[in-house]
Amino acid sequence: SVKKLRIAIDGPAGSGKSTIAKILAKLYNLIYIDTGAMYRYAAYLYLKNNQNLDIVINMLKESEFNFVKDGETQKLKVDFHGESKLYDDELRTVDVSKIVSKVAKNKDIRIILTEKQKEIAKNNSVIMDGRDIGTVVIPEAEVKVFLSATPEERAKRRLKDYETKGIKISYEEVLEDIKKRDEEDVNRDIAPLKKADDAYELDTTGLSIDDVVRRIKELIDKVY
Ligand code: CDP
Ligand code: CDP
Repeated sequence: SVKKLRIAIDGPAGSGKSTIAKILAKLYNLIYIDTGAMYRYAAYLYLKNNQNLDIVINMLKESEFNFVKDGETQKLKVDFHGESKLYDDELRTVDVSKIVSKVAKNKDIRIILTEKQKEIAKNNSVIMDGRDIGTVVIPEAEVKVFLSATPEERAKRRLKDYETKGIKISYEEVLEDIKKRDEEDVNRDIAPLKKADDAYELDTTGLSIDDVVRRIKELIDKVY
């Protein structure tokens, strides 16, 4: 189809955003933009540069972001001062997860990354996931979804992901990280995690990935 389709998916950690977005991207031939990876990259730079936010802000300004397919997953490609690098696992460590919400609160960082995300959405049919996509980044999206699930269910899912990668961490630690991040993301002043008024809300607790995909497909096929 030549009609433009933009899908915004928001929700807390472990609600299934990236899993669902990847599947729908394939089905509808959309570019999948993982905005969380961009904030995780900012947090990664923060840890690498003695927690100096000014350095991070200057680096982000001069970075170009793209997403490149790598088998079933995809990686964040950053072009900075003529150098190109791919990021994935280094953005999903426990250390990055623990500080990412703090870094994501920074106003300058949000302005820079939001601008780059809007630019991508302007020129492409995309499925974008994050916290503020339906509210701030693509308020004009044709389809908006807000995924949720109980913190306990989300912690269980995330623990499994860590186990698969061979990362050792306890259920309690994962649950605490998720609850802390939820609180910071929901209560921040700029672009907090919030369901857009016109978003379709789906509690995925107890739902399979197939169930969730089916429901959202129905929604897309209604408007598109
Ligand atoms: O995958 P997970 O849900 O754990 O997190 P993520 O989507 O990778 O996002 C990591 C963090 O980045 C979130 O907890 C937010 O603090 C921040 N973020 C944001 O502020 N705005 C977005 N659009 C996306 C992520
Ligand atoms: O991107 P987000 O942090 O919202 O969540 P995710 O990384 O897509 O999902 C976290 C884990 O939960 C993945 O391993 C999914 O396979 C799993 N999941 C699930 O078990 N049931 C669902 N309905 C959705 C996701």
